[in-house]
Amino acid sequence: MSLSLKRSPIMEETAYPNVGTILGQGAEAIITVVAFNEGIAVKKVRPAKTYRLPQLDTKLRKSRTNQEYKCIQRAEKAGILVPKIYHISKPESSLTMEFIHGKAIRKVLIEYQHDYISQHPSIIQTSKQSTLAPQPADPYELTPTEPQNDEPDIQVDDNQFSTAQSSDDVQHPLPNTPPLQTEDEDIVHSRLVIALDDQIKHIAEELGTILAKLHDANVIHGDLTTSNMILTPSNQICLIDFGLSYASADIEDKAVDLHLLRRACTSTHPALLSFYDLTLQTYASKSVNSTSVLKRLEVVELRGRKRSMAG
Ligand SMILES: Nc1ncnc2c1ncn2[C@@H]1O[C@H](COP(=O)(O)OP(=O)(O)O)[C@@H](O)[C@H]1O
Ligand SMILES: [Mg+2]
Repeated sequence: MSLSLKRSPIMEETAYPNVGTILGQGAEAIITVVAFNEGIAVKKVRPAKTYRLPQLDTKLRKSRTNQEYKCIQRAEKAGILVPKIYHISKPESSLTMEFIHGKAIRKVLIEYQHDYISQHPSIIQTSKQSTLAPQPADPYELTPTEPQNDEPDIQVDDNQFSTAQSSDDVQHPLPNTPPLQTEDEDIVHSRLVIALDDQIKHIAEELGTILAKLHDANVIHGDLTTSNMILTPSNQICLIDFGLSYASADIEDKAVDLHLLRRACTSTHPALLSFYDLTLQTYASKSVNSTSVLKRLEVVELRGRKRSMAG
């Protein structure tokens, strides 16, 4: 399904990166733009870890690279948009793949939130007023607050302007609003809740559909953050970073995968938790095993909550 968009979140996007640009350098892999067939590609290399026994290290890197490759293939077979793999090098532990043009969903959501606040500056005031209400200790236990004025669909949350982790993240100042006292700022942000427009709803539904397909193909992604999802110029979602993925039909594994998505959304887009809710709702309607997975998800979340209460 394609939407007719008032303003595509990626319309203004962007030049292709230069060859040699480092896109990521995590604990496990270095991701670089390389020249490929008169164009560019992305190369993901798992460098040697000197703290491991060399033989074990080589074996581990090979098997993880191979597992990543297999999971990408499996996802592709299930009809999910993933980068095409151009080359796998087991000796080097590297994958060379298609460069996906677009914008990380993380960035799309952060920009959406920024735009929303620009257009509804009074929500900052609303959330300032509601700072008098008691604050829940656990993000899972957020309770809806009474609306303080006519503004619909608003209330909570935090650090969306302070959680940038990758270089493509933009930290926006709040437009047209007086600077907040530092003390207030966290609390005010921690109480914002932002409504989804049709375009963001569409992205959440697409994501729910993709995750249902992925789990029905018995692939666990293992790192479902909004940085690992790219919105393409044709408004499709491309799933990337299968570095922690594995094959499993276990409902516990699927539930934990969804739980990690929720945790990622809670920490990165706390004012947009309805994005996660809609994703989950769509997953529930699309995945063949959703009833048992969602039941297990409740248990997983309860476990997580108990753990966080125990400190
Ligand atoms: N195929 C790709 N096309 C475009 N960008 C990519 C691609 N693969 C990775 N990236 C970029 O590189 C970043 C890091 O790559 P990723 O595979 O997520 O590794 P990790 O998060 O483990 O470091 C991603 O967040 C994304 O910005
Ligand atoms: Mg990643």
